[in-house]
Amino acid sequence: MSAATFVEPVPRLIGHVAVPGDKSISHRAVLIGAICDGETRITNFGRSADTEATIEAVRACGVTVYEHGHDTLHVFGVGLRGLAQPAGPIDCRNAGTLVRLFAGILAGQASKEFELTGDASLSARPMGRIAEPLAAMGAGVETDDGRLPLGIQGRPLHAISYRLPVASAQVKSAILLAGLYATDGETTVVEPAPTRDHTERMLEAAGAHVVRREESVSVWPAERLELGELEVPGDISSAAPFVVAATLVPGAEVHIHGVNLNPRRTGLLTILARMGANITTYNRRELGGEPGGDLEIRSAELVGTTVGPAEVPAAIDELPLFALAASCARGESRLHGAEELRAKESDRIEATVDALRALGVRARSTDDGLAVTGIPARLRGGRISSRGDHRIAMLGAVAGLASREGVRIDDAEAVGVSFPGFFEMLEELRRASAVEQPDRA
Ligand code: S3P
Repeated sequence: MSAATFVEPVPRLIGHVAVPGDKSISHRAVLIGAICDGETRITNFGRSADTEATIEAVRACGVTVYEHGHDTLHVFGVGLRGLAQPAGPIDCRNAGTLVRLFAGILAGQASKEFELTGDASLSARPMGRIAEPLAAMGAGVETDDGRLPLGIQGRPLHAISYRLPVASAQVKSAILLAGLYATDGETTVVEPAPTRDHTERMLEAAGAHVVRREESVSVWPAERLELGELEVPGDISSAAPFVVAATLVPGAEVHIHGVNLNPRRTGLLTILARMGANITTYNRRELGGEPGGDLEIRSAELVGTTVGPAEVPAAIDELPLFALAASCARGESRLHGAEELRAKESDRIEATVDALRALGVRARSTDDGLAVTGIPARLRGGRISSRGDHRIAMLGAVAGLASREGVRIDDAEAVGVSFPGFFEMLEELRRASAVEQPDRA
């Protein structure tokens, strides 16, 4: 794919898609599989640049991972304390979930030392938020003034009770994973707002003693873990661009099959429904130990809304898409309490506002969010930069479909961080829409 990708407007959008396996759950399956006893078979693995980094990271620590076809993995776990000290630094590339969750596991590998590095984007992101609680548990932790590289000396750990200063599933997970190695009982994490609970669900499935509550979670030291089989559900964050596209393009009817519908991930669906979106959930079922199902999305006219801090964690990676939807809604929309967006793969507040403005939208950033004045019509279109951020590149693509003139996206290949086949799937849906229902629009 060339550096700049042009996404043309589409007259209608009709068809069925199934998105790749969830990225958060795929990272966790490999990391937890690595410290299980015996083999873990992972199907519908969400293969992406981020999750490949996780496979490489556990391999660097002596774990054998067999890859069968595109999306089946066999992870041969080495047990809770069996990770080897690698020959050199572990490159976590762009993957925040990898560096933060792995740090929790490595902290418990007594008398071994590890160094975690990453790309320029990851190296600019805050690591003090994991260094502090892991050090409080007794690990040796060094950062470069709160940034990568992260040095970890595994030591015998103590249990802690920790109130998260920011709502972060990655930080919560790092502490819970370290809690498996505590020598003295229950580790508890208290959250300011509920964040995704995939780690605690998977640890429970692997046999750990976990107590999940609305605002806190506790884990007890484990003797051994065993996952066996795990089918990764489709990623709601990868489904989200299709949900917004189908909402904004007139005459749309899109079905998305086999997607994770964990309520701690579906904030965007709740927000869009409040704005008037036409989204139906059907075939609800359990997928890989998580609530899942299929979605039907039809186009709808939206009205603006306000999203506050309580709604942010369950929609955190979809907030740029919320802002795009707000651009085509009647009236003003606001987002508050979302300063965490400034600590993502890019400063997603500025990146979103810049992108929307480049497409002719009236948008402005605030300290902790943004404001958008929507117009219930097709966007003009234009040229945006992804800033190397996969979620911004996908925003550009959805905007292109729903625009009058199309959208050119610089550095569009950033989508490979979470969804390498994204543009191909979009084009397939465009083709299906053109041939399947020529009389609808
Ligand atoms: C993730 C948690 C969120 C999210 C990220 C994936 C996870 O980050 O933005 O894309 O897998 O735990 P924070 O924990 O930093 O909010």
